[in-house]
Amino acid sequence: MENPTRTAEHIARITQRRSNLSELIARSVPSQTPFVWEIGCGHGHFLAAYAAAHPAEVCVGVDISKDRIDRGLRKRNRAKLDNLRFIQADARDFLDALPAGATFSAVYILFPDPWPKRRHHKNRIMQPEFLAAAAQRAGQGTRLHFRTDYEPYFRDSERIIHQQADWQIVDEPWPFEQLTVFQSRAASHFSFTARPRPADA
Ligand SMILES: C[S@@+](CC[C@H](N)C(=O)[O-])C[C@H]1O[C@@H](n2cnc3c(N)ncnc32)[C@H](O)[C@@H]1O
Repeated sequence: MENPTRTAEHIARITQRRSNLSELIARSVPSQTPFVWEIGCGHGHFLAAYAAAHPAEVCVGVDISKDRIDRGLRKRNRAKLDNLRFIQADARDFLDALPAGATFSAVYILFPDPWPKRRHHKNRIMQPEFLAAAAQRAGQGTRLHFRTDYEPYFRDSERIIHQQADWQIVDEPWPFEQLTVFQSRAASHFSFTARPRPADA
């Protein structure tokens, strides 16, 4: 049987964590200017290079691993990149906690955990619900860039994009190349870029 005290404590902990995340995001993420978002940014190799090359763009890297975010923050501080932020969070919690009006110009998902077993597919970031929520924060110029070395995940993600209403794959060159830790270990990789689906498409 459920213990009501433990359940109440659990709910209080979740509420507090969400409130802390909302405060951190409100301090870090511009509420009016679209920002570049990297999901599962790892140690921040890609985003640090991107932010250095695009000083006028605010770049926000999110990862659930504290150790990886700490490493990213050290990179940011060493390079004095004022336009670069790293936040420890689950990508879905981050999306839920964004302030009203916050939008992104680009989303990068680079070598996300592939969860190869079918019963674990629900843990993948590329889900119809996630894509629908992300589309709420996108404008017509927004691009979602996806790259993986695990072909079955790539094909499944392409299929999910084709089946849902919010995004469509476009034939555009990859906008910015920078080797990530996982890319450096991969023999090959597969990429697509998607944009919000126009109303008439
Ligand atoms: C395979 S690693 C890739 C790291 C980096 N993008 C690269 O290419 O080297 C996947 C990363 O996603 C992070 N991650 C996994 N699930 C996540 C989630 N739901 N929200 C945010 N980060 C997540 C992991 O902690 C890990 O750093």
